[in-house]
Amino acid sequence: MEKKLYGITPSGEEVFQFTLENENALVTLLSRGATLDKLIVADKNGVKKDVLLGFDDLEGHMTRSDYQGVAVGPFANRIAGGRLNINGKEYILPPNEKGRNLLHSGGLYTEAVWNGEFEGDNKVVFKRHFMDMEGGFPGNTDVEISYTLEDDGTVLMEYKAVSDSDMYFNLTNHAYFNLSGFDGGDILNHKLKVNADGFLPVDEYSIPTGEIMSVAGTPFDFREFKEIGKEIEADFEQLRFTGGYDHCFCLKDADKGYRLAASVIDENSGLALDVFTDLPGVQFYAGNFLKGTIGKGNKPMNKRCGFCLETQYYPDSPNKPQFPSCFVMAGESFYTKSAYRVYKA
Ligand code: BGC
Repeated sequence: MEKKLYGITPSGEEVFQFTLENENALVTLLSRGATLDKLIVADKNGVKKDVLLGFDDLEGHMTRSDYQGVAVGPFANRIAGGRLNINGKEYILPPNEKGRNLLHSGGLYTEAVWNGEFEGDNKVVFKRHFMDMEGGFPGNTDVEISYTLEDDGTVLMEYKAVSDSDMYFNLTNHAYFNLSGFDGGDILNHKLKVNADGFLPVDEYSIPTGEIMSVAGTPFDFREFKEIGKEIEADFEQLRFTGGYDHCFCLKDADKGYRLAASVIDENSGLALDVFTDLPGVQFYAGNFLKGTIGKGNKPMNKRCGFCLETQYYPDSPNKPQFPSCFVMAGESFYTKSAYRVYKA
């Protein structure tokens, strides 16, 4: 366990880096963005690999980020038109994508510097108070995001929020993985399995249409392990709209609570990733928009050199009454948990 000063933001806020380590993994976390910064595991040859894309310094996180490793909230992914209707009152949040959608809440949780503390010997808790209308969202809100490094190397992420306003909460982590290491080339040979029979088709602006499409017979069928690259270039409208996989999968057993959502295997390193969650969806994003910005080790993060599995409620669900609701009443506690476990397959 170690806590050290990582950097100071231009507005003078101190950002700390926290380290948790056991015999299976080493994790570093940053208080800016409640960020999962590094996850280092030994591969099949015993070589220690950092399997997360990211940056070596605060400046990288602040100026070149595509949300590498950060916490996203209060509402992850997109809200159509930035329109949030709460009990008949409409909040219009300034769109930050294509002049029309709100993506990742405009970076509200991501760009915040959180108060971090160790709890016990394997957990870091990040806390932040958000004022009513901060970032355009209603409610004085207390949020807690914690990371626990479990004995088997699992990184458990817990999210809590309580607000004095009714609100929609959808918090996630946006880590990009490459199981061959952050400098391991593209992830097209990684094999993915998702515990989902359906996914959410989107319009050309990446807003879910509101339907659920069966994965059967489509490039979105990951019910058995399949290489990410196998059909990513298929002539299929949903892939054309988004330039590769960038969709929410509707996880099975939504009523069963915490369960395995998705797994990935990389034969090159012999490492596997399991993703667990109690949430109904997982956004599989194949890193299609990465365009060579410089990251860890001064290496460019090129298109599809990392993938994300962002556990979440469905995108734009506040505007889609048929989707599972993440509406939380004032004073009620919001709580969810998800985990990443990287291990030798
Ligand atoms: C979105 C992508 C977006 C990426 C980085 C993902 O969650 O689905 O469309 O490019 O985040 O912002």
